[in-house]
Amino acid sequence: MTILAFAHSKGGVGKSTLCLLIASELAQSGRRVLIIDADQKQQSCLQWIARCHLAGSRPNTLTGEIATKPEDLKRLLRSTDAEIILIDVQGSMNDLLIAAIVASDITLVPTKANVMEMVETVKLFDWAQTNLRRAPLHLVLNRVEGIDTNTAAFQDAVRMIREHQLPALSTFVRARKVYEQFARDAGSLERIGKDPSKSDQVTKARANIVSLIGDITAAISPPPTKDQAK
Ligand SMILES: Nc1ncnc2c1ncn2[C@@H]1O[C@H](COP(=O)(O)OP(=O)(O)OP(=O)(O)O)[C@@H](O)[C@H]1O
Ligand SMILES: [Mg+2]
Repeated sequence: MTILAFAHSKGGVGKSTLCLLIASELAQSGRRVLIIDADQKQQSCLQWIARCHLAGSRPNTLTGEIATKPEDLKRLLRSTDAEIILIDVQGSMNDLLIAAIVASDITLVPTKANVMEMVETVKLFDWAQTNLRRAPLHLVLNRVEGIDTNTAAFQDAVRMIREHQLPALSTFVRARKVYEQFARDAGSLERIGKDPSKSDQVTKARANIVSLIGDITAAISPPPTKDQAK
């Protein structure tokens, strides 16, 4: 069982979007996936699953549950037979955010490459390091525009990552219209790609998510022992 959490003290950074994109991609490849929606107020992930269910687009092996307190989370984690569990957390500091981080194999912290969001991200990493016995946080740059990487704002963000030695995944997620379309009720990127006018965009968008999943897998897997490496 692998547990991924999506957390930030700040709202609107892309936690739910990345959670759904990764969950959908894994379910498309036949894995049994459970999303635990720990954002009691918005329930973005559960609502997405419900919309997809109505539209007939919900991937078969993808289910959702809600957790409103840390005990719910523990109970769901104990009782599920899913192979991969993704926990989507509300954008504020609360008990569920802490419980999700501590329970996870990896917690993704999406952040836009600008100084204002990065300042909040640095605070979260510092806080977690000081206060939690386990904090497998990894930053993922999200909503990166094609031209962003040449801008001073992007370079400032990269400098801050280095200065504060934040563990960051090497894949960054681009800002893409198809991700917004997916978030309505598409169920999967593959489904959007059936429209020939979208297939090129979808190929790139999917490759971006597959690459992110590859980084996550590498970050979770322990490095090979000397004997295995031989
Ligand atoms: N890579 C992306 N490309 C395009 N749009 C994106 C991307 N990531 C997020 N968005 C958009 O940004 C907005 C906020 O994303 P999302 O709801 O996933 O953030 P969140 O961190 O879960 O917010 P909250 O804290 O309110 O739960 C949404 O409109 C979503 O469609
Ligand atoms: Mg959300």
